[in-house]
Formats: sequence, structure tokens, C-alpha cells
Amino acid sequence: MMITDEARKKLFKKYEKLIAVNPDLNRRLVSFQANKQVPLYRWFKYKEGFSSKLVRYFMTKYHPTAGHILDPFAGAGTTLFSAINPEKDLFSTDCPSWSSTGIELMPVGKFAIEARLAAERIDRKRFHQQMEVFGRSFDEFRDTSSRIKHIAITQNAFTGKTEENLNRYLNYFGEAISAKLRQIAGDLRGDNRNESGHDGKLTVISGSSLEALPKLADGSFDFIMTSPPYCNRYDYTRTYALELVFLGHDDADVKRLRQELLSCTVENKEKDHKLKEIYNKIGRRSDYDHVMSVYMACEAMQEVNSILGELNAHKKLNNSNIPRMVRNYFLEMCFCIFEMARILKNNGFVVMVNDNVRYGGEEIPVDLILSSFAESFGLRLKKIWILATGKGNSSQQMGNHGKSELRKCIYVWEKI
Ligand SMILES: C[S@@+](CC[C@H](N)C(=O)[O-])C[C@H]1O[C@@H](n2cnc3c(N)ncnc32)[C@H](O)[C@@H]1O
Repeated sequence: MMITDEARKKLFKKYEKLIAVNPDLNRRLVSFQANKQVPLYRWFKYKEGFSSKLVRYFMTKYHPTAGHILDPFAGAGTTLFSAINPEKDLFSTDCPSWSSTGIELMPVGKFAIEARLAAERIDRKRFHQQMEVFGRSFDEFRDTSSRIKHIAITQNAFTGKTEENLNRYLNYFGEAISAKLRQIAGDLRGDNRNESGHDGKLTVISGSSLEALPKLADGSFDFIMTSPPYCNRYDYTRTYALELVFLGHDDADVKRLRQELLSCTVENKEKDHKLKEIYNKIGRRSDYDHVMSVYMACEAMQEVNSILGELNAHKKLNNSNIPRMVRNYFLEMCFCIFEMARILKNNGFVVMVNDNVRYGGEEIPVDLILSSFAESFGLRLKKIWILATGKGNSSQQMGNHGKSELRKCIYVWEKI
């Protein structure tokens, strides 16, 4: 078996000077954890989210004047709300209010965003009164006559008691939801935030970024802050199966959603055909060809694809679909990055949170490969910030061989 890491080493050398540990950044700030105590952000626990502080940190650092921000993988909307709701925090004392646009495939994320927007419009006094009524009458509520319409993943997933409570919830609001409502009511009372709300504008587009991004106008955004799915086999449709059921989705919907996810699970099939169709339909076939040629020309990418193919042939991967997932993950990201470069204004920034991965012992430098795509589309790599892990050995983290620690990073690209 021929294993070489020459192309990856070459790419590492090219960008090495731009990789640095940032002591301001840590796992807590980058993950949803830092939102847990923050009014408005704690209502819906979107485990894959990043924190509002992180968004503010980067906006203040790279684009202190207001404009229009995009998050093409918006999740529960952390970027969107952080941008339109200026709040004084650790890092900044003067945060202007932005307009924001998000794209999100999972109906759960869109629902969380819309619920929060709706909360800003409701009559707060009536909301508090209704909550009192719910609290009193739910305790006596025993009706379980409407039953959950399970999908394959949720069938038999709960104990009898949980199932009964879920059914009770279906027939009325559950206990958990009333506690959550109390918290929301507390936040809306204005104890913790500026009553005037936001004065920016928030738009959320439901669907896949692969289809939505090509429809956005050239040079229409000042800043993009996002965290795409990682190339790590994480299946959002599985994690949020119960929520999807509660939102009325059936097995066929969930299957379709899984296929539309950016290729981050071993079940994802090729989307080339669909991509070609999208670009043909909008009369931009030459853009499709250009993105494909950039992908093919990336030596480190081809090295990774061929090594994973070899490892697979020797049964060295624990799932035979890993090479397909990796190949397609990068191809789809290549399309997204091309579009991000096109819709960004000159001197605008992209800030992307993503982790490197390893399969069959081979490190896949997601940060370097995506940055090389970005560079081909006119986005200059400004920095790859590595999260401080507290382990204190940055050179080990930055190592480009063997079993070095995988980089968890945030990249900054600037449109030139
Ligand atoms: C890491 S999460 C982003 C979380 C977000 N930063 C937040 O704070 O809530 C990645 C998101 O990408 C979404 N996603 C996956 N494939 C997508 C696609 N093709 N188009 C748009 N969104 C997609 C997932 O549903 C998930 O919500």
C-alpha cells in the first residue's frame, strides 16, 4: 500500500506561518456551553451551536462597523441574533446592530429562530397570564389520547413513562415546556436585556445552502460567520429525530433531509448530479466547471482521496463509505466556498469554525484544504486560529505528521 503525505506536508508548509494558538479562544467559548447562562440564547439547547460571545468577538475584531452578515449553516441562529441584538459583553463595549441572513436545512433550527423572533413580537403581559393558566391546569391533565407518530429511529426509543409523558405533552404542554416558558417569560420581562429589542433585520432561508447560496446576489454581504457540519459522521437528523417528529415529519422527510445534509454522514450519497442541475438551471454552468476544476487541482485533496481509497481496499476503515463521505464533503464545501467568495463584498471576511479529522490513522487537514479552495476563489487566508486546549503544547498541536493532536480551529479569510 502506497501512503504518502507529501501534498499535505507541502500545504502545511505553505500556510504554517498563518497558524497560531489564540489564548482568547477555548472550547467553552466556541461551543454552546457559553450560551447556557445567556438570556435568549438558552431557550433552545442546540448542542452543535457556538456562543454569541464568539460571534461578537470576531465581528468586533475584524468588522467593527455594521453591515449585513450571513450564516449559511445557521443552526439555531446564534450568528443571526448576536448580530441584530447588540449587547455589551466581555470583548466589546460598542456593538453596532447588523442585518442578518441565515440558511438552515433542519426545520428544527428554523423553528427555533422563528420562535425567538415571534417572542419579540408577543404581548408580554398576556404571555405571563397564559403561563399561569398552563401551570395550574397541566398538573391535572391526564389525556394521552393523541399519540406520537413515530419514525423508525424514535420507535421504542423511550421508556413507558417517558412515552406517556410525551403523549401527555402532545395533548397539552409538558412540565418541561412550562419551566422553559417561565424562563422565557423572565427574559422577556426585560430583567436581563434592553427592552427596545433589536433594530436590525433578520431573514432565515429554509433549505440547503447548496441551492440557496447560488441564488444570492454578488457582493451582498460584509461578513460571513459560520460553522458548517464537520466531516465527522455526525447525523443531525438522528440527534433531532424526536424534535422532527414533534414538528410533524415522517420517515420519508427525515430520509430526504439526511440526504440533503452536507455530506457529513456515511449514508450521504453523491450530489454532483444535483449540483450540475442547479448550475445549469441558473445558466452558470461555467461556474460549476470552475469549482470542479479547483477541487480536482488540489493536490492535498487528491492525496487524501487516493489514500482513503487504498485504506478501504485493504479494509482498514471501519466503514466502507468513509471515502465517499470525505470526497463529497470537500466537494460540496468547495461549492459553498466559491459562492461565499462571490456574495461577499471586497474586504469582507469569512470566519469559519471547523475541526480537523482523522480516518484510518490518516490526518485530514480540513483547515488547510478548505483554505486552499478559498484562496483559489479570491479569499486570502488571514489566520488559522487554533483553540487553546490548556495542554500548553502548541507545537505538538501544529505538528503535521503522525499522531499529532488534531487541530480544532477557526479560520479567517478576507476577500481581496
Ligand atoms: C455546526 S451546526 C451550526 C450551529 C450554529 N452555529 C448555531 O450556533 O446554532 C451546522 C448546521 O448546518 C446545518 N446543515 C447541514 N447541512 C446543511 C445544508 N446542506 N444546508 C444548510 N444547512 C445545513 C445543520 O443542520 C446544522 O444546523
